[in-house]
Amino acid sequence: MSIKERATYNMDRDYHYNLEAGPRFSGEIPAWEPDPAFPFLGHGLNSPLGIPAGLLLDSKWINLYALLGYDILVYKTVRSRRYPVHPWPNCLFVKTEMLNPDALPPQVVAPRNWEPPSPRVVTITNSFGMPSLSPEGWQEDVEKALGHLKEGQILIVSGVGTLEDSREKLVQDFVRVASMIKETGVPVVELNFSCPNTADGEGSIYTDPPLASWIAREVRRALGDTPLLIKVGLLLGRELEETVKALAPWVQGMVGINSVPLSVVDEEGHPALGPQRTTSGVCGWAIRQCGLAFVREAAALRERERYDMAICGCGGVTHPSHIREYLALGADAVFTCTGAMFNPYLALEYKGVVETHEDPT
Ligand SMILES: Cc1cc2nc3c(=O)[nH]c(=O)nc-3n(C[C@H](O)[C@H](O)[C@H](O)COP(=O)(O)O)c2cc1C
Repeated sequence: MSIKERATYNMDRDYHYNLEAGPRFSGEIPAWEPDPAFPFLGHGLNSPLGIPAGLLLDSKWINLYALLGYDILVYKTVRSRRYPVHPWPNCLFVKTEMLNPDALPPQVVAPRNWEPPSPRVVTITNSFGMPSLSPEGWQEDVEKALGHLKEGQILIVSGVGTLEDSREKLVQDFVRVASMIKETGVPVVELNFSCPNTADGEGSIYTDPPLASWIAREVRRALGDTPLLIKVGLLLGRELEETVKALAPWVQGMVGINSVPLSVVDEEGHPALGPQRTTSGVCGWAIRQCGLAFVREAAALRERERYDMAICGCGGVTHPSHIREYLALGADAVFTCTGAMFNPYLALEYKGVVETHEDPT
């Protein structure tokens, strides 16, 4: 089976196909015992491993990954209204070295008809534009998803505001979507302050501390005591300090990083996703050092400033040793998206339920 065929998300088909027919999986699911000994935001979980917003398109996807032993399941980002998806293709393999967070390349190449040699080294670009069902549609489905959880597992729903003609309206829309998420009864709300795929400014919230703080404050008021996580993109140094300072009074944790926005071209140097999408998010193996750098700095900052917030590390986790690497740097939880898409058994490898064959890379 090719690497592409091993993925639960079918890259050769569009988002709607994957929503309706997915996830693609025909393997065995070995039995494993819940052991909710791991504390996370006031809950006892079986492990600190989860799937970030993206791969879990709906309750069917949540059911599969809950059975496969991922204990923190984040429902793909939803909106306060129905919203269309970007045209296919939405995922392409990228051929690149490990990215250096201090010196990102001007562009990376997504060669046609090329596959990485192993699921451990898969890097992709993804571009969906955060599609959403109507609130009634996703709220009903989230309730179904809650019914699929096993002991020691938690469901989080990610939401995003839709850009309107003023910042006030954007803030209000974030409050609206967060309140709609809370109505479903999920115990934690996540908001996406980073999306590299939009050209209209939505993606810049995490690099705009006053706006980030404004949204987080208003949402905090609406949520009462429901914990709030904020998803950010690659942020380091002074910028990270300012954003964390702006968010700290209002949030219970940060999730970082989102995919790294880069120019992605084909072998001829043309935009690989077509002329309308010259930049898209790069994720998977090659961004691990970027995610680790974020967690290292965020954890140091938390200790220095005595911030009370969880840090959820994300980016390039494709092997059980990568999970331990993130935890050692101070992450409270570790998320894998691309890794779990191409190797659904990663959580059971981490738990020692199935054997880990290959060495870390
Ligand atoms: C197919 C796909 C869809 C994604 N959709 C979202 C999304 O809706 N919201 C979000 O905050 N991040 C989204 N992401 C980003 C992931 O949550 C994650 O931050 C990123 O992929 C880095 O992790 P990874 O290297 O383990 O893939 C998506 C990623 C992938 C691969």
